[in-house]
Amino acid sequence: MRYRTLGKTGFSVSEVSFGAWAIGGSWGDVRDDDSLAALHKAVDCGVNFIDTADVYGMGRSERLVAQLRRESKETIVVATKAGRRLPSQTVEGYSRENLSGWIEDSLRNLGTDCLDLVQLHCPPTALYYRPEVFGYLDDLATVGKIRHYGVSVERVEEALKAIEFPNVKTVQIIFNCFRLRPAELFFERARKRQVGILARVPLASGLLTGKFDKTSRFVKDDHRQFNRHGEAFDMGETFSGVDYEVALDAVEEIRKLVPQGMTMAQFALRWILMFDAVTCAIPGGKTAAQIMDNCGASELPELSEATMKRVAAIYAEKIAPLVHQRW
Ligand SMILES: NC(=O)c1ccc[n+]([C@@H]2O[C@H](COP(=O)([O-])OP(=O)(O)OC[C@H]3O[C@@H](n4cnc5c(N)ncnc54)[C@H](OP(=O)(O)O)[C@@H]3O)[C@@H](O)[C@H]2O)c1
Repeated sequence: MRYRTLGKTGFSVSEVSFGAWAIGGSWGDVRDDDSLAALHKAVDCGVNFIDTADVYGMGRSERLVAQLRRESKETIVVATKAGRRLPSQTVEGYSRENLSGWIEDSLRNLGTDCLDLVQLHCPPTALYYRPEVFGYLDDLATVGKIRHYGVSVERVEEALKAIEFPNVKTVQIIFNCFRLRPAELFFERARKRQVGILARVPLASGLLTGKFDKTSRFVKDDHRQFNRHGEAFDMGETFSGVDYEVALDAVEEIRKLVPQGMTMAQFALRWILMFDAVTCAIPGGKTAAQIMDNCGASELPELSEATMKRVAAIYAEKIAPLVHQRW
């Protein structure tokens, strides 16, 4: 496993880290013992950074991460998120009182007295024009409840605005072979300001592992079934917002590029790691086998320039017309 510096936090984190949404909920039936095996395997593979949120199973994901920390000797940096417990997303909901309450709950779930990194969890765009909210986070850092804060965003423009606030140390954004726009302008700006970047949904919710086809079915409490058209939350979070059948077609084109000895999931992650501005990819994983596969991406050689160009061409031809200007 290779490590990269997470912006100005001072943390050195595994370039393939762990996304802990699926082990909380919204991904069908996932058993806690499988999740713990996956978490332990991640640590064995050198993962030292986990992304979770208070709403992933309403504390379930955070509590599993806390259990891992108790059972492991390694130092594990944990990023959590706050804001999605609001019944509806309003800027007013990000009040000092609400933020303090959510942080207290995460502290309890994670069994700690100070959170390593708290990210605002895809708040409305208007929040980035309300500096007082960042002031509340500064105050939580001053009193020692949080070490660092950052944001998780839906749109590139939100990311660009967020990093104008000097204490926003990280930005989490969707970036994968089906979502290239963050690399156009945002990466360069983030690098200049030494802001860490967490690449989320790196496997396009599993599509980029190449395991799905037209006959694949998802259970009703899996967001790949219930949020395919944005019924519950932003549709970009499910399959990266790409129409399922269009995506399958593009996956077949990408599959032709995967070198021998590399799985398609590893290819998708290695592609992300080719961008220096990215600190880490945070693939979700439900089993130890998936985690081993994903972590293997860090050990692989660089992809060729021709391969990178071909992925960009597949994106430009098949995917960009559907998604490029949406996020
Ligand atoms: N708003 C936000 O801030 C937000 C939103 C989304 C995600 N996130 C974060 O980003 C992380 C990653 O995104 P994601 O979990 O949505 O999507 P993802 O990483 O693109 O896909 C994860 C899913 O793909 C499948 N998978 C993973 N590795 C595999 C492998 N090697 N082989 C085959 N299948 C594999 C698993 O599901 P199956 O086995 O069921 O196919 C897994 O749950 C999340 O866990 C979360 O921490 C944050």
